[in-house]
Amino acid sequence: MTFRRRIVLLSAAAVALALAFAATITYIVVRQDLRAGIDDGLRRTDPQITTVFQEQDGDPQPGLGATKVTRVAVPDGTFGGATGVAQATLESGQTILPAGPGAAALPVDNAVRAVASGTHPPFLRDVTVNGTHLRVFTRQGPSGQALQIARPLTEADATLSRLRGELALVMLFGIALAAGLGVVVSRMATRPLARLTATAEQVTATGDLRHRIPTPPDPPDDEPTRLAASFNAMLAALEASRDAQRQLVADASHELRTPLTAIRANIELLGHAPDLPPAEREAMLASAREQLEDLTVLVGDLVDLARPDLVGAREGCDDPPEELRLDQLVEAAVERARRHAPDTTFSVAAEPTIVRGTRARLSRAVGNLLDNAVKWSPPGGAVEVEVHEGSVTVRDHGPGIAEPDLPHVFDRFYRAPSARGLPGSGLGLAIVKHVADAHGGTVAAERPAGGGTLMRLELPERDAY
Ligand SMILES: Nc1ncnc2c1ncn2[C@@H]1O[C@H](COP(=O)(O)OP(=O)(O)OP(=O)(O)O)[C@@H](O)[C@H]1O
Ligand SMILES: [Mg+2]
Repeated sequence: MTFRRRIVLLSAAAVALALAFAATITYIVVRQDLRAGIDDGLRRTDPQITTVFQEQDGDPQPGLGATKVTRVAVPDGTFGGATGVAQATLESGQTILPAGPGAAALPVDNAVRAVASGTHPPFLRDVTVNGTHLRVFTRQGPSGQALQIARPLTEADATLSRLRGELALVMLFGIALAAGLGVVVSRMATRPLARLTATAEQVTATGDLRHRIPTPPDPPDDEPTRLAASFNAMLAALEASRDAQRQLVADASHELRTPLTAIRANIELLGHAPDLPPAEREAMLASAREQLEDLTVLVGDLVDLARPDLVGAREGCDDPPEELRLDQLVEAAVERARRHAPDTTFSVAAEPTIVRGTRARLSRAVGNLLDNAVKWSPPGGAVEVEVHEGSVTVRDHGPGIAEPDLPHVFDRFYRAPSARGLPGSGLGLAIVKHVADAHGGTVAAERPAGGGTLMRLELPERDAY
């Protein structure tokens, strides 16, 4: 069942319930009122019991052959209004039947007789005599008779039956109206959903993340607007992330092309000139090997940069984050740098400090900083490394980074114009920044007094050691 149909059904059902409740109450109240009026009338009616002598032919003059007849009669109502009929059951057990056209005997049972003897209080009840629905009031007469006063309920029943029909009509009309309004309301309520669905389907069908849900210039602050806004924000975030990925792939393939071309040239040269002098051959192979190594490093860097979860926050992944001694990690990295660059003089001043992070990633970041320091140090230059409360600084005495290059050195593949003659791809500092960000830290390049470069990597310190 669709959402809209559900809204329509629910609103119709709610209205039906409310109407049924109102109709029932109305019916009960009207019925009560009608019958209370009749009951009051019956209670007020005072039938007269008279005894007359009646001639056989109906002449009421007493004479020979006249018989004594007891009659019970109800006084006429004002303007001949309906007053009902009466029946009396005398002490002798004789029942005086009501007079009048169509009148028939009212049922007499023990309760009626008990009223006559005064052992039962007066009571009202419904009876049906000869197919006529009657209301009968039974009370004690002035000299110990049971008086039954009856009035037909025909008119009241007809009124009530008409009322039932009318109420049913009102209910039907109300439900139809509610369903109609429900259709309109559901259409209005689901319009934003329809827009959302259409956009989502469009995105799915075309794979084009540039689609947005159209929003009015001055949107109200309601749920559909917020939903549309967050959907649009999600699309924008997805689009940005996909653009970043595309850019990375484009940059990467561009960067991979250079070493690949060089290696291909070397191999082709080796293939075309089979009788090269062994020394030259060896040199070319060594160069190709070196380029392959560079390429491997570059591919590793790219893989690192493409991974969003550098810190490995997920439990159970290969390289989970841990509390580690940053000072020891830096000392080990300097040790490795010393082996690679025996000419450079490293001095380390490290205070014990603990950070939370991934050992391999942090080693790599520090290694990249040291690598740059070595690369740009003059031969035999000095590199000073300090570790203090979660921060690592690496300072060299090279040419330094020119002021206009400072904002760009952490960009992927960015290399200052002066650096373009040196080996490297420009990913080193981008990786440092990526690692710093992933650990909730920062990295900055500074131009210290006295020349050279000072790189500052700051990580949130877990605990003073
Ligand atoms: N210590 C430094 N002294 C002078 N310039 C630096 C220093 N460190 C970085 N730079 C400048 O910042 C640029 C980016 O550095 P990054 O480490 O990202 O790239 P790279 O060292 O050129 O290549 P890679 O690290 O990928 O081998 C460098 O090309 C260089 O211009
Ligand atoms: Mg570098």
